[in-house]
Amino acid sequence: MNNLESFEKLIDSSEKITFITGAGISAESGVPTFRGSNGLWKNYRAEELATPYAFEKNPEIVWEWYNWRRELISKCVPNPAHYFISGLEGSKDTFLITQNVDGLHKKAGSKNLVEIHGSIWKIKCVNCTYSEENYKVPLTFPPTCQKCGSLMRPAVIWFGESLIGTDLDRAVKECLNCDLLIVIGTSAVVQPVASFPFQAKRHNNKIKIIDINPVKNDISEIADLYIQENSGEFLKNFI
Ligand code: OAD
Ligand code: ZN
Repeated sequence: MNNLESFEKLIDSSEKITFITGAGISAESGVPTFRGSNGLWKNYRAEELATPYAFEKNPEIVWEWYNWRRELISKCVPNPAHYFISGLEGSKDTFLITQNVDGLHKKAGSKNLVEIHGSIWKIKCVNCTYSEENYKVPLTFPPTCQKCGSLMRPAVIWFGESLIGTDLDRAVKECLNCDLLIVIGTSAVVQPVASFPFQAKRHNNKIKIIDINPVKNDISEIADLYIQENSGEFLKNFI
């Protein structure tokens, strides 16, 4: 069987399908990934900017980076991989856990999802509980809170911060209680999402795993089917 046939067979034989996606699923939409050849911005790595400490020290540079990403992403549209996932919602019991903050899954119509690292289109106050959806590009620095006047920050989960408990619980539950886990476009180095497929296999080794990623990673090693291709290119065959 070739990859197309094997993929189709696993989809057909599964009732409950959970997806995990990372930056790679949006690469063909033109969104730069965090790691890899085009992952740097002005020589900074994501780990140097996406932290509460970086924001405390230099909020302007962090906002400059987010403004650059927001502007870039505002011009991007979903690709066949995003549409494959949203399309399957109609015919199967599916759930999507995305690490992406770009909003492209929602743009493609996905509804059963958790944006586990937050959204680049949401901002929140560093001091009070105020938050808002915000699509302004660029945001003039410093963006301030309507309620208390403090600085606003992107409502994304940064390195060193905890995920939202309810999101994490839901995500783990959906990974442990599915028949098929499809992982797309993640380097599988950022926790806790990187460990979800391992948890799923340990919990129930009948859960099948598919990994779609042009570059081998830890999840490809345990996958029942590893598809070493660009996800949009591969999944366009199924929409
Ligand atoms: P990475 O940038 O670490 O990894 C992107 C992965 O996508 C790599 O494994 C690539 O091989 C793969 N890839 C590239 N092009 C692809 C394509 N066309 N189709 C399929 N895969 C492709 O991104 P993540 O694993 O998502 O956190 O990174 C995890 C988190 O680290 C992100 O959510 C972000 C970052 O810091 C926050 O924004 C809070
Ligand atoms: Zn406030």
